[in-house]
Amino acid sequence: MWLGPEAGVKTNAPGAPCPGSFSARLAGLPPLQPLGPTSPALLRGPSAVAELLRRAPLGRAGGRAVPGAHHPLCPHSFEACEQTTDWLLSRTRQRPRIAVICGSGLGLLADTLQSSEAFSYSEIPNFPSSTVAGHAGQLVFGELQGKPCVCMKGRFHMYEGHPLWKVTFPVRVFKLLGVETLLVTNAAGGLAENYSPGDIMVIRDHVNLPGLAGLNPLLGPNEERFGPRFPALSNAYDKELRVRALEISEQLGYSAFVREGVYCMVGGPNFESVAEARMLRALGVDAVGMSTAPEVVVAKHCGLRVFGLSLITNTVVRDYDSEDSASHEAVLEASQARAAALQMLVTQLVGSIEP
Ligand code: HPA
Repeated sequence: MWLGPEAGVKTNAPGAPCPGSFSARLAGLPPLQPLGPTSPALLRGPSAVAELLRRAPLGRAGGRAVPGAHHPLCPHSFEACEQTTDWLLSRTRQRPRIAVICGSGLGLLADTLQSSEAFSYSEIPNFPSSTVAGHAGQLVFGELQGKPCVCMKGRFHMYEGHPLWKVTFPVRVFKLLGVETLLVTNAAGGLAENYSPGDIMVIRDHVNLPGLAGLNPLLGPNEERFGPRFPALSNAYDKELRVRALEISEQLGYSAFVREGVYCMVGGPNFESVAEARMLRALGVDAVGMSTAPEVVVAKHCGLRVFGLSLITNTVVRDYDSEDSASHEAVLEASQARAAALQMLVTQLVGSIEP
């Protein structure tokens, strides 16, 4: 149901696809035209839209109004994802096909987007807020190498106390925005013997340790409109993009510090004990971090193509006699030192992706 064409905002009448939404596209309805600069909703500004959303029949999650709230494990329903998507679509004419999630200290990539439009997480309906230093908290739309992109400058982590459905909520919004490829970057500790701080690892595969232990973002009733109950993760990180990234690295003269390996997500926020580090290495893990796996699980569930890079910011201590220890400051420092190379690699890769 539309509140009126002058509003440019809709509520979610049960069963009726909302114009311009993902479900409307599935139902073969014509796409919603981006709101022009003369749209009354835009002229009246965000407060008018917020007022209309406030008046809509909504559920509640975490104190915020959310439509279609239905399950304690996943209070952000499909309708909530649509609400956020429509909010964004009504404020930008950009229609991204590629999304980039920027890890710790790696958000500068978002500043290189052309014709950029940024939204603070705090103003986007249903979006969580990032609480970590080095994670700015903005969704930035713009073009990278002429390709329409959306960048998360700052991501959400489980260790901040966010449930995984919240951590991964933006990925579902990306899907509804029309994104087809998700690029993920993160900071990680190196476990492989030949890894050094400053290396960049193309993620070949992951071990989702929280997921194996039952902390999975897909827990709860399955939302069939996003994907199947039992999604496959055997080819999670797109092979073609991995091969291309290694080729680009060679062309850029980065081969000495770019590797391919297995990433493991741990819950954090503490860095690993020596015994834990040894266990992870024995499991075949090359680099360990506190993010990425939930976003990738949700991205694969809804059919996105995924590519990931880890910036190795420290060597994980695996020796009881070592005096070294990891710190967040060292992680940020190391990521800043290699951020330019990582950005160049992501930029060239984005440029190579066909729409
Ligand atoms: N362990 C876990 N997460 C990390 C590390 C680490 O050593 N470095 C950066 N993120």
